[in-house]
Amino acid sequence: MIDTVRTSDLDKIDWNFKGARTQYLSHTFHPYPARFIPQIPATFIKLFTKESDTVLDPFCGSGTTLVEAFLHNRNSIGNDLNPLAVLISKVKTTLIGEDKLRYFNKKLSLLNSYIDYTAKDSCIKLPKRKLSKVFDDNVILKLNAIRRLLLEIKEEEYHDLYDFGRVALSSSIWSLTEGSNADIIDIFVNKVFSMQKEMLKMTEIVKNVPKIRVTCGDARKLDVEDSSVDLIVTSPPYVNALDYHRTHMYSMFWLDMDIDLFKRNEIGSHSHFANNRFRLLSKYLADMLRSTIEMNRVLKKGKLCVIVVGNSSLEYELIESYKFFADMSVKIGFKPIKTFFREIDKTRKYTSLNVGKINDEYILIMQKVKDSGFSVSDDDFVAEVVKEQMLKFREKVCRSSESSAKNKERLLKNIDKINEAIEKIVTDIKMDKN
Ligand SMILES: C[S@@+](CC[C@H](N)C(=O)[O-])C[C@H]1O[C@@H](n2cnc3c(N)ncnc32)[C@H](O)[C@@H]1O
Repeated sequence: MIDTVRTSDLDKIDWNFKGARTQYLSHTFHPYPARFIPQIPATFIKLFTKESDTVLDPFCGSGTTLVEAFLHNRNSIGNDLNPLAVLISKVKTTLIGEDKLRYFNKKLSLLNSYIDYTAKDSCIKLPKRKLSKVFDDNVILKLNAIRRLLLEIKEEEYHDLYDFGRVALSSSIWSLTEGSNADIIDIFVNKVFSMQKEMLKMTEIVKNVPKIRVTCGDARKLDVEDSSVDLIVTSPPYVNALDYHRTHMYSMFWLDMDIDLFKRNEIGSHSHFANNRFRLLSKYLADMLRSTIEMNRVLKKGKLCVIVVGNSSLEYELIESYKFFADMSVKIGFKPIKTFFREIDKTRKYTSLNVGKINDEYILIMQKVKDSGFSVSDDDFVAEVVKEQMLKFREKVCRSSESSAKNKERLLKNIDKINEAIEKIVTDIKMDKN
């Protein structure tokens, strides 16, 4: 017997959360593009779980869902293929006491003595991008000093402090690439102090530490037991919107993280199918279908899966991802319960050359009503579902080409590209074996 979901509680909520404070406690540790506001996971956690339940975010990014689960004393599992996301999520949900933080400050007071003016750092191979110019010799010297200090902390076996410092370092690198002119040592030290302040507040608030597990893996092959999760709240990558492996390239470089595996398997990324973006769409739909099959596998029957996603665009065609997800999910044991539309706060909007502004997002709420009966490696099934979606999409574009004289040429070109994408589905949707 499947629980009936009380949707009346959800209808009462103003999902825009206008004016709500979104930056508090460890949510302030590190910026992360397209993260969702904490009020979204917090609402579902409070309404649909109880203490000791398990909440999952298979695309956890900077760990917003995990932090809210942590603050509400729920167990949680986070997963992301981006090693930087995993580091940030872990640090945001690991309490560090005052004594250890004091030790960190003692080391920090010696930071200038770690600058080695005799070191030959010019052999550092930064990515060939204009932005690499912000890392001049002076910055490199100081970043290496921070790295040396952190490595020493690691060697002294203060692993939590080491990770804490790495997040502060990554956040400082982000400020630099976003145009800060301040001295990198000052940026880093200030970041550490502000993180410590929030960490101390958190240690005051959280009295019972729930279980947390964060894995660095592919959402299409989750390392999570069948039927073990009570709620999923996630926001997956968007198609063709932004590439996290590029966005986080400099942090990953200075933190010695491997970018290649992530780059190869990042869902929705521009680095695939540059000549025909509609092939990227079919690959994206296949990847998201496989991820949703996994979400179905790990979720208990009757429980909710909440997906937060915005629209994007490909070759000027509007891609309403939530509609694709809702349509595909009914084929794998989910029942759509409700969809809410929300405007994104001005400060969180982001722009990409290919997409333009992403102004709004949708909250798609689905209930698991049965096991999917499929596995992520059922290529024939995945190809069939994706083909059905692509045919519907082509129909929509054909309809607009008939009614729009102005854009006819572009639309006809797009239809040709969509046809090519449909022809190539069977090969394009295959998963990388690594
Ligand atoms: C929209 S972000 C999630 C943001 C998150 N909700 C937050 O509040 O920080 C989507 C995430 O999907 C991750 N991702 C992309 N491809 C993935 C894959 N194959 N498996 C797991 N995670 C992936 C990206 O690294 C990114 O962190």
